Amino acid sequence: MSALRIGVCGNGTVGGGTIELLHSQSDLLSSRAGRELRLTRVGARRDRDDCPTGDVPVHRDLLEVARADDVDVVVESIGGTTLAKEIVETALRSGKSVVTANKALIAEHGNELLALAEEYGQSLLCEAAVAGGVPILKALRDGMAANAVTELSGIINGTGNFILTEMGAHQRPFDEVLAEAQDLGYAEADPTFDVEGVDAAHKLSILAAMAFATPLNFSEVFCEGISGVTPADIQFADELGYRIKHLGIAKEHADAVELRVHPTLLPKDTLLASVDGVLNAVCLHGHAAGETVYSGAGAGRLPTASAVVADLVDIARAEGGSVHCLGVPVGALRAKPVMPMD
Ligand code: HSE
Repeated sequence: MSALRIGVCGNGTVGGGTIELLHSQSDLLSSRAGRELRLTRVGARRDRDDCPTGDVPVHRDLLEVARADDVDVVVESIGGTTLAKEIVETALRSGKSVVTANKALIAEHGNELLALAEEYGQSLLCEAAVAGGVPILKALRDGMAANAVTELSGIINGTGNFILTEMGAHQRPFDEVLAEAQDLGYAEADPTFDVEGVDAAHKLSILAAMAFATPLNFSEVFCEGISGVTPADIQFADELGYRIKHLGIAKEHADAVELRVHPTLLPKDTLLASVDGVLNAVCLHGHAAGETVYSGAGAGRLPTASAVVADLVDIARAEGGSVHCLGVPVGALRAKPVMPMD
């Protein structure tokens, strides 16, 4: 079987981690995928000391990677929704599959991009977009394939959970902990996405689309972040036997879906209440499997890269066939209105 040739656009936290894993785990990946995963191009606007690319050609024009003849799959890890969208569209139209960690791109433009991927017979996968290193999208698509999943809830923003944990456990100020989350590579380029709930809303819309086989509905998610949570709120909650956690919650009702992200009081003895720091955790309720829970690092270089590389292995195993990101073809999705929330 010929090698799967990979072009990575972006050499920051996610792209750099992906390149590192492709190099350091090459033998393991070849045996697991049944063929070599070979890095053939990198697109990066500048070189970085923490991302050596060896002999692989580096392009300053990232669209060249999306068009290159010796690339079968493009990894989009630059973030944002403008150039990133152009790269993904160009790659798909050039007959290449795409792996992205970009939840904003998928949440806001996923419906059209998934349709484009199917039109061109390509895969568009985004495991790294939700819950970092936790393979929650694969759990929904594969492990829970026999289930009607009618409800899910979870902590799906690592930065926000890190801030709430540190404010509560060590009485550290909000701004200081946010700055640390940025230094650790957890926070978004625009950290208001983390603290105002937008990042969690992006992720919830992806989870809900997979769980309920509906189109993506990001713009209708009820969204409240953690910026209004004070140390006194955390202290009072603690005295009353609760923890404050920022949750994403999705439920399917008969005629509508309920989609919301907001700070929530959880009794201390519940499972999600004990998920601290940058960890994420998602509970799924399947009619056959019952409740299943998935937890792990929700952000960071190697956890996120682990999810990107797992998607590359899926594409390598598909041997030219395509993998439907949401678990079913776009044409089989069932449009359902989002329940209005006050
Ligand atoms: N900023 C995101 C978070 C990164 O903190 O969860 C991972 O998606």
